[in-house]
Amino acid sequence: MEWKLILGHYLILVILLLGQLHGCKSCIEKERKALLELKNYMISRSVESVFGSVLPTWNNNTKSDCCGWKGIKCNHTSGRVIGLFFADMYFNESPLLNLSLLHPFEEVRSLNLSGLGYNGFFDDHIEGYKSLRRLRNLEILDLSSNSFNNTIFPFLNTATSLTSLFLRWNFMGGAFPIKELKDLTNLELLDLRGNSFNSGVPGYKSLKRFKNLEILDLSSNRINQSIFPFLNTATSLKSLLLGWNFMYGAFPIIELKNLANLELLDLIGNGFNGSIPDLKNLTNLEALGLAENNPNGPIPIEVICEMKNLRELDLRANYVVGQLPHCLGSLKMLKVLDLSSNQLSGNLPSSFSSLESLEYLSLLDNNFTGLFSLNPLTNLTKLKVFKLSSTTDMVQVETDSNWQPKFQLSVVILRFCNLEKIPSFLVYQNNLRLVDLSSNRLSGYIPTWLLVNNPELEVLQLRNNSFTFFQMPTIVHNLLVLDFSANNIGGLFPDNIGRQLPNLLHMNGSNNRFQGHLSSSMGEMKNLTFLDLSYNNLSGLLFTRISKALSQQI
Ligand SMILES: *[C@@H]1O[C@H](CO)[C@@H](O)[C@H](O)[C@H]1NC(C)=O
Ligand SMILES: *[C@@H]1O[C@H](CO)[C@@H](O)[C@H](O)[C@H]1NC(C)=O
Ligand SMILES: *[C@@H]1O[C@H](CO)[C@@H](O)[C@H](O)[C@H]1NC(C)=O
Ligand SMILES: *[C@@H]1O[C@H](CO)[C@@H](O)[C@H](O)[C@H]1NC(C)=O
Ligand SMILES: *[C@@H]1O[C@H](CO)[C@@H](O)[C@H](O)[C@H]1NC(C)=O
Ligand SMILES: *[C@@H]1O[C@H](CO)[C@@H](O)[C@H](O)[C@H]1NC(C)=O
Ligand SMILES: *[C@@H]1O[C@H](CO)[C@@H](O)[C@H](O)[C@H]1NC(C)=O
Ligand SMILES: *[C@@H]1O[C@H](CO)[C@@H](O)[C@H](O)[C@H]1NC(C)=O
Ligand SMILES: *[C@@H]1O[C@H](CO)[C@@H](O)[C@H](O)[C@H]1NC(C)=O
Ligand SMILES: *[C@@H]1O[C@H](CO)[C@@H](O)[C@H](O)[C@H]1NC(C)=O
Ligand SMILES: *[C@@H]1O[C@H](CO)[C@@H](O)[C@H](O)[C@H]1NC(C)=O
Ligand SMILES: *[C@@H]1O[C@H](CO)[C@@H](O)[C@H](O)[C@H]1NC(C)=O
Repeated sequence: MEWKLILGHYLILVILLLGQLHGCKSCIEKERKALLELKNYMISRSVESVFGSVLPTWNNNTKSDCCGWKGIKCNHTSGRVIGLFFADMYFNESPLLNLSLLHPFEEVRSLNLSGLGYNGFFDDHIEGYKSLRRLRNLEILDLSSNSFNNTIFPFLNTATSLTSLFLRWNFMGGAFPIKELKDLTNLELLDLRGNSFNSGVPGYKSLKRFKNLEILDLSSNRINQSIFPFLNTATSLKSLLLGWNFMYGAFPIIELKNLANLELLDLIGNGFNGSIPDLKNLTNLEALGLAENNPNGPIPIEVICEMKNLRELDLRANYVVGQLPHCLGSLKMLKVLDLSSNQLSGNLPSSFSSLESLEYLSLLDNNFTGLFSLNPLTNLTKLKVFKLSSTTDMVQVETDSNWQPKFQLSVVILRFCNLEKIPSFLVYQNNLRLVDLSSNRLSGYIPTWLLVNNPELEVLQLRNNSFTFFQMPTIVHNLLVLDFSANNIGGLFPDNIGRQLPNLLHMNGSNNRFQGHLSSSMGEMKNLTFLDLSYNNLSGLLFTRISKALSQQI
């Protein structure tokens, strides 16, 4: 009895809720008209051939609720447009954006005009509204990938409610536009990536007025190290991205010492050199990107061990030499460690066994030699990606045949590791997406058992080994890429391969010793876009079969 009562109450509640949902407001007429006006404006500036495909869901039918149109987000209580987004449009000229057309959307919070090719604004509406001021709720404005130059700053500076401003990939430049954007004091995110800003003297000496600024992206500009004293005033910053600029000299850490809230610092692709600075005082730093610096000389990395909060460290393509420092084991929070393309030698320190948070470890392209034991990784339960290769061709990865690590990898790369047998730990892996065992000395059967064990496997790279046999297991698998080129595989080409790997996009079986005809099942690989079987002894109907396979996807 009681239960029925409770159920009854719920039923009423559900009906009430449904009723409310049903009764939610559709878009208001003024905004529907304004959207259609915008559409006409877009059409008038589009390449003629795409007229029909400009905003096709924005239609003239008065019954159609504009809140359901593509790119429109409404507040369903008020029926007002709060989000506006255009995509995939092509213009025959670089148009100016008529800001008057945006005025009706007084409640809009998020406006995405990226990639539309605009090179300026104009506003010929009622005098006094010559600005973005009417959009008094605008918080997010994305003007990326247009052709805007500095002439739009006076307009932007009127959008004082903005919290996120994206201006990446435009034609802006000059000194940091602090004075130009001085009224945008609510900014939390400013993205200026991919312009031509430099380190000239900005209009104000400090960034302090942006007291909420947390993310600043200045990557891919023309900034040099003389901007640091200025950046050091943005004490609220959590993420600072300065990659691909014109910076050189010593790593600029002293200069950034006031940025105590910094969590991410990205200096990738500059010309910094010398030793890695002591970052102890940046106690909140979690991610440090120093990749592709240090062209000139070896750097020691021990100092990194002091950054106990580090979660991500990218030291790819620097000039790191010598053994991996034992003290790296103290970075208990570390999730991502990329040391690829350096000149490291020696072995994995036993201390790596304490990197209990590690998910991603890349040691590709280093100078490891001799026996290389993976034992320290045994208990790293979170490890998902492991990559290792040696430029010297003299490393020998050693794994005990009873080794049963506690991780389940999704990516494993062991290239140039002198493997003679497939490491037996791979037998215990069931979640692999990518396996690359290229350039080892593996022989015998192609390990198609990996497909059986790993239903999600997408890429299997086995090139440049000494495999001699290829047999498909009797399963159908969704593998996308298979490369067994430059081996020593003879006999007939696997007959059933097309039926069993129907989703294959890329297959390379060149430089083997296959004989006879290609199997007719190849025609079942309807998605195949790359096929190389050159340098074999195949004969007969080869080409008709291939062209059948390829023509079916056209
Ligand atoms: C909507 O309909 C009116 C009149 O039928 C027409 O003038 C206008 O061009 C149409 N607008 C769009 C966007 O199709
Ligand atoms: C939606 O509009 C109503 C009525 O104007 C307002 O009270 C509410 O705060 C708005 N909700 C959001 C998420 O903007
Ligand atoms: C800009 O938009 C306004 C409002 O729709 C309109 O009155 C004006 O004619 C437009 N200007 C141009 C040059 O299209
Ligand atoms: C704006 O749209 C583009 C796609 O056209 C998207 O990549 C970008 O993330 C969007 N911007 C924001 C702030 O969501
Ligand atoms: C900046 O853009 C405006 C508007 O498109 C244009 O008139 C002006 O010539 C441009 N200035 C420079 C320096 O390119
Ligand atoms: C940095 O750039 C500014 C302006 O772009 C220039 O005046 C200054 O000389 C440069 N400093 C160095 C150290 O290259
Ligand atoms: C760093 O590079 C500068 C030139 O960019 C050079 O003068 C300096 O000697 C280099 N320092 C080190 C430690 O290699
Ligand atoms: C780091 O912090 C310590 C104590 O908090 C301070 O004495 C030292 O000067 C700081 N170092 C730098 C380079 O700012
Ligand atoms: C590392 O290997 C590369 C390529 O084999 C070689 O040029 C370089 O000198 C080696 N570096 C060290 C420190 O042994
Ligand atoms: C892994 O954990 C087991 C059991 O806790 C322990 O006996 C073994 O020494 C650990 N191995 C490594 C390399 O830390
Ligand atoms: C093939 O692998 C061997 C090592 O097994 C290596 O020495 C050789 O350079 C590799 N060839 C290519 C083309 O990668
Ligand atoms: C080919 O690709 C399409 C689209 O990505 C996918 O739906 C299909 O399952 C794939 N496989 C075959 C055999 O068509």
